[in-house]
Amino acid sequence: MLQTTDRHKLIKLSRRNLLTNKKTNIVLIGFMGSGKTTIGKLLEKSTGKKLVDIDKSIEQKTKTKIKKIFALYGEAHFRKLETLAVKVAAKKKNMIIATGGGVVKKQENINLLKKTGVMVYLKSSFKTIVKRVGGRKTRPLFDTAHPEQAEALFKSRLALYKAAADIVVDTDKKGKNEVGKIILKNFFIEALK
Ligand code: S3P
Repeated sequence: MLQTTDRHKLIKLSRRNLLTNKKTNIVLIGFMGSGKTTIGKLLEKSTGKKLVDIDKSIEQKTKTKIKKIFALYGEAHFRKLETLAVKVAAKKKNMIIATGGGVVKKQENINLLKKTGVMVYLKSSFKTIVKRVGGRKTRPLFDTAHPEQAEALFKSRLALYKAAADIVVDTDKKGKNEVGKIILKNFFIEALK
């Protein structure tokens, strides 16, 4: 997906930013089903930066699935684990960080992630989200039998994503390669600041 010249540009930029302590991470934010994991994997392949998935790191650390953490200990406990995982990920350099959809609920998370990373909001319409999430039952805050509740949550989150974002990419009518290209083009601009 990345041309050789772009790859060299990215490596040079990352080196410069590592030396000058500037941003080297790409942080993906957006609602459940907005494609953070898919785009994260694609960017990992094309940039050579390593992918950290915040939800996965919580599951690995607790040896418990997110759904079970919610069921056993509730959302407030999950949010504490999420902030701990964000702290660890944000300290790293040269990473792609795929966050959970609710990471923007806490300003503390946003501040931590913004210190080392460029924030990319993967924007999708609720219609697209529903298509992507399908009938999957792994998300405790997205009951596919009651999409109206998820839609209310979606609406309440929009302003938070927008406020936290350095880059907004509308993903609705784009393939993943195109989304990846737009992110990298804008990352060059943001990371040079
Ligand atoms: C959540 C999104 C989920 C996960 C948890 C809570 C949210 O991640 O962190 O179920 O509050 O939006 P994904 O966005 O990767 O599905």
